[in-house]
Amino acid sequence: MQTQEPQLRGKVAIVTGAGRGIGRAIALAYARQGAAVCCAARSLGQVQETAAQIVAEGGRALALITDVTDFASVERMVNETEQAFGGLDIVVVNAGVGGGQQTVEASDPQTWRTTIEVNLVGAYYCAKAAVPALKRRGAGKIIAIGSGQGQRGRAGISDYACSKAGLWMLTRVLAQELAPHNISVNQLIPGPVLTEMTGDLLARNTYEGEWAKSPEDVAPLAVFLAAQPEPGPTAQSFSLMRRDA
Ligand SMILES: NC(=O)c1ccc[n+]([C@@H]2O[C@H](COP(=O)([O-])OP(=O)(O)OC[C@H]3O[C@@H](n4cnc5c(N)ncnc54)[C@H](OP(=O)(O)O)[C@@H]3O)[C@@H](O)[C@H]2O)c1
Repeated sequence: MQTQEPQLRGKVAIVTGAGRGIGRAIALAYARQGAAVCCAARSLGQVQETAAQIVAEGGRALALITDVTDFASVERMVNETEQAFGGLDIVVVNAGVGGGQQTVEASDPQTWRTTIEVNLVGAYYCAKAAVPALKRRGAGKIIAIGSGQGQRGRAGISDYACSKAGLWMLTRVLAQELAPHNISVNQLIPGPVLTEMTGDLLARNTYEGEWAKSPEDVAPLAVFLAAQPEPGPTAQSFSLMRRDA
């Protein structure tokens, strides 16, 4: 019987928002493919659980309290990962919030701002802090977890849709800046996934005609992107949706 070589052996990854949902599934999948994984989010208990599962399966993991809206916290995340595992190869910019789910008129200004700060400014902070570490390695991958709503939009989700539209542009600009350094930057669009963020909405059947998937259904595409040969694709959007984004 032929056994397959782990696709991420020797690699070091950071997954933000790895305490639950999509981030947790990606962190576990990366570890199963041989990567050492830093699991980062604000809830220490949740990231510790993800890291403990990785270690229990024989992998290497680090659990770090990180708030992606705080640049010092994000810099700590990158530094501690490099110190623990000797470098950094892959960053999954996954931490996110679902937004206020209100029309612009009914929206709360602070909630609107927070959505942009977590989903867009947080992504910028993660990329900015990680780039020097990826350059030290001579190559790398940044994978941003985008959303079809960043292209399509829908009434009542202006904060979320704008944050993801901005994230897509950040992906494209970063890809151009980092191509000469062998660092690729791509977007993964999961489509609707049953998580704490969407549980309620999916129950209300907001995503008619879509594939409501589990976080584990997203992990193979995240592994595929992380395992691409160098230089590999960059500035691209990879989607698991059934309709046009
Ligand atoms: N579920 C979907 O249908 C869907 C579809 C398209 C795209 N996405 C995107 O996929 C990503 C993950 O979503 P999910 O559905 O897995 O949501 P989730 O289950 O709610 O998980 C979100 C993760 O992000 C972390 N997080 C939130 N704010 C943070 C902050 N300020 N700093 C650090 N970590 C933070 C959370 O941990 P703490 O709260 O402990 O910090 C949690 O670990 C998001 O970017 C989301 O927009 C989801």
